[in-house]
Amino acid sequence: MITNIVTATPEAIARAGQLIGEGRLVAFPTETVYGLGGDATSDSAVAAIFAAKGRPSFNPLIVHLPDIHAAESLVLVDERARQVADHFWPGPLTLVLPRRAESPVSLLVTAGLDSVAVRAPDHPLAQSLLKAAGRPIAAPSANRSGAVSPTTAEHVAESLGERVDMILDGGPCRVGLESTVLDLTGATPAILRPGGISRERIEALLGPVTVSGEAADAPKSPGQLLSHYAPRAAVRLNAPEAGPGEALLGFGEAPQATLNLSPGGDLTEAAANLFAMLRALDRPEFTGIAVMPIPERGLGEAINDRLRRAAAPRPTSGATP
Ligand code: TXA
Ligand code: MG
Repeated sequence: MITNIVTATPEAIARAGQLIGEGRLVAFPTETVYGLGGDATSDSAVAAIFAAKGRPSFNPLIVHLPDIHAAESLVLVDERARQVADHFWPGPLTLVLPRRAESPVSLLVTAGLDSVAVRAPDHPLAQSLLKAAGRPIAAPSANRSGAVSPTTAEHVAESLGERVDMILDGGPCRVGLESTVLDLTGATPAILRPGGISRERIEALLGPVTVSGEAADAPKSPGQLLSHYAPRAAVRLNAPEAGPGEALLGFGEAPQATLNLSPGGDLTEAAANLFAMLRALDRPEFTGIAVMPIPERGLGEAINDRLRRAAAPRPTSGATP
């Protein structure tokens, strides 16, 4: 397969920064998943991201920054936001904060909301790219809308191919699940999407937070469409064993599993393997993918969120959400 995957040499990173400056698109690794990056201050670059993903434009994007100082010109950073960033940045936590009136971020990024989602990624290549580009980078996960998120450069190439100008290869992503999206615009912090930082860790710092349900919260968290992260194959949850023709995705001791997220029952390992294993089992020889139960604690909350969406009824129109 001909691809635009590039080894991340200093020259390649400099070129990637230049491409971003020209309004082109670069896929790059973060600690969570690969992002499809473009200049967050350019309407045409942001429009190109939506087009490449086939994403409904009401679904806002995360703006990537080197650190909390860089966030100050884009959003209102209060004491609570500073405390959270001190604790978890760089890292897999996105903060939704009030947009500054004079914020240079393209209005398309936020899909008309008066807040902006910002995050500082904990990956040396992402940080080098941000430095080379010298501007905030808007980046959704680098996959076609509704499909499984990419955790390797090859996944990006399979999903987006020539729609992206360059794919920086940083090997497999360490966390493997997207960032936790935490809304700090209200009095009580609200998790809009569970992810790489568990609710327990956030509550240890901030006290109780609310966790939004599913598609019903659409106006507040438009990204949380019910069918999402979906492989082509049907997905069946909480399965003790595979049915006829099904692949079995195991967790914990399961010699009968086709693949195992973590034979030792470790949720961090399971998170890192989730998307790659869903892809690996998404093959015509299986009638579907049966997934063994995953405990609903720590990263299990985010893993189960993604699995429920992968298993949700698909849109019937043929178009993915
Ligand atoms: O780990 C990640 O977060 C990855 C990497 C590339 O950083 N990015 C990612 O982006 O997952 P995306 O676009 O696939 O998901 C962004 C999520 C969506 O659920 C979206 O609705 C939510 O963040 N979001 C973005 N801006 C928002 C805002 N202003 N208010 C509420 N939710 C927002
Ligand atoms: Mg995504």
